[in-house]
Amino acid sequence: MQRFNGTITGTERARMFRQKPVTVWLTGLSGAGKSTIAYELERRLISLGHACYVLDGDNVRHGLASDLGFSREDRHENIRRVAHVAQLMNDAGLIVITALISPMHEDRAMAREIIGSDRFVETYLAASVDDCARRDPKGLYAKARSGVIGSFTGVSAPYEAPAHPELRVETASQSKEESVAGIFEYLLEGFLDRS
Ligand code: ADX
Repeated sequence: MQRFNGTITGTERARMFRQKPVTVWLTGLSGAGKSTIAYELERRLISLGHACYVLDGDNVRHGLASDLGFSREDRHENIRRVAHVAQLMNDAGLIVITALISPMHEDRAMAREIIGSDRFVETYLAASVDDCARRDPKGLYAKARSGVIGSFTGVSAPYEAPAHPELRVETASQSKEESVAGIFEYLLEGFLDRS
């Protein structure tokens, strides 16, 4: 099928929003702080007048991905769908923050490909399984370890930590504010127009 292109350019949208569109792709274990950091970062960007939206796995799985579970294939499809939505939102000029475990290298590489490497900021929230299981905010590690939940990332399903992420955030040892500030500084350098 042929594409039909509108006449609004990326430059026009960037001028309107005073930002270059980007996707901050947060990856890390359940309980590493992805949602917390995503929504704090969103608040900071919006408070400065930037146009921004969070795509959170726990929310997306109620609608766009409500037919998907946690098999290898379903996670791949979840990530594919979210990456395409992020790409469309970036096209519309928005900054997108995704909060998905996205445990496999291959799937994150697919997301980078869909979104575009120059707009993709892979951000590894580097909290260990032990750190996340100790906090266990949703009680899921306890359930996974006792076998009530199967294929749980970090317990009974793999997590492949990014080898060369654009950003690495030590959420276990840093405060929420410090973690958000690190990502914000990175965006300020390359994507936000502060004039
Ligand atoms: S992903 O692997 O496809 O990227 P996603 O981020 O959408 O995962 O969903 C992860 C969330 O689903 C977790 O934060 C947790 O609340 C919930 N969840 C339920 N079952 C599992 C499971 N088996 N493994 C990981 N997360 C699970």
